[in-house]
Amino acid sequence: MTIGSLGYIGLQVRDPDAWSAFATGVLGLMPAEPAGAARRFRLDDLAWRIAVEAGDADDLNYLGFEVGGPAELEAMRIRLADAGLAVGNGDTDRLAERGVVGLISCLDPDGLKVEIFYGPTLRTETPFASPAGVGGFVTGEQGLGHVVLSTRDMAAARRFYQDLLGFRLSDTIRMRPAPKVSFDMEFFHCNRRHHTLALIPVPMPRRLHHFMIQTPTLDAVGFAMERAQAAGAPITATLGRHTNDHMVSFYARTPGGFEVEFGCGAIEVDEATWRVGRHDAPSTWGHKRPAAH
Ligand SMILES: [Fe+2]
Repeated sequence: MTIGSLGYIGLQVRDPDAWSAFATGVLGLMPAEPAGAARRFRLDDLAWRIAVEAGDADDLNYLGFEVGGPAELEAMRIRLADAGLAVGNGDTDRLAERGVVGLISCLDPDGLKVEIFYGPTLRTETPFASPAGVGGFVTGEQGLGHVVLSTRDMAAARRFYQDLLGFRLSDTIRMRPAPKVSFDMEFFHCNRRHHTLALIPVPMPRRLHHFMIQTPTLDAVGFAMERAQAAGAPITATLGRHTNDHMVSFYARTPGGFEVEFGCGAIEVDEATWRVGRHDAPSTWGHKRPAAH
């Protein structure tokens, strides 16, 4: 029993106008129907994948994990409640706002709101069309992409995401951000995407280090990097290939302060044969941090 994929994320930013311009103009996301004051964006057939609302956090506001149907949602509700978590049932307003058939919610050990849902609204009658000419994103069974979160308590985060939600460890990377500073990042999958979640065991100013969206082609990554540069968005990591998922990507700082990774070419997990590995570097080449940022 596991969650199926990352269905949606909710962001709270001080400047929704700037964030929306970045989302459409640089990332190439398609504007979707808003929900109240929240602006929303599409990556695929789903009615929305990313919601952005105004607020001081400049951080992730909530995560939405998708499960297959009502039986899976009920099983997850029971498992979370049995573990002693306070589990909320989505009321009709919340279901309407998210556009899903069923939903429960709880808090992760660091206090982030985590929603689990089934039955997202599909907009197949209005096909995805990117305002920046992006042909499409790798989603479907792999969900919208991945998120990398900081945590104050790795053991507690593991208990929640691994033992309760059912994430499986893909691998670890020993990070050495400064001399005499090191920690292990842990990468977790819940479907064929190499990691839907990664955890940084270090308290940081915000929970969300970055979210990642994936395109099928390297050209789409190159065009996105050129749009980011033309828009003056700070490139926080140059084009590079990651050691663990082999993704070729670049990173840019979004107007919310957290970063976005835009990539292609990641390997996929075959659960039957996958073996956990460890790495001593995050990248085989590239991903350099330009001096100006
Ligand atoms: Fe990433």
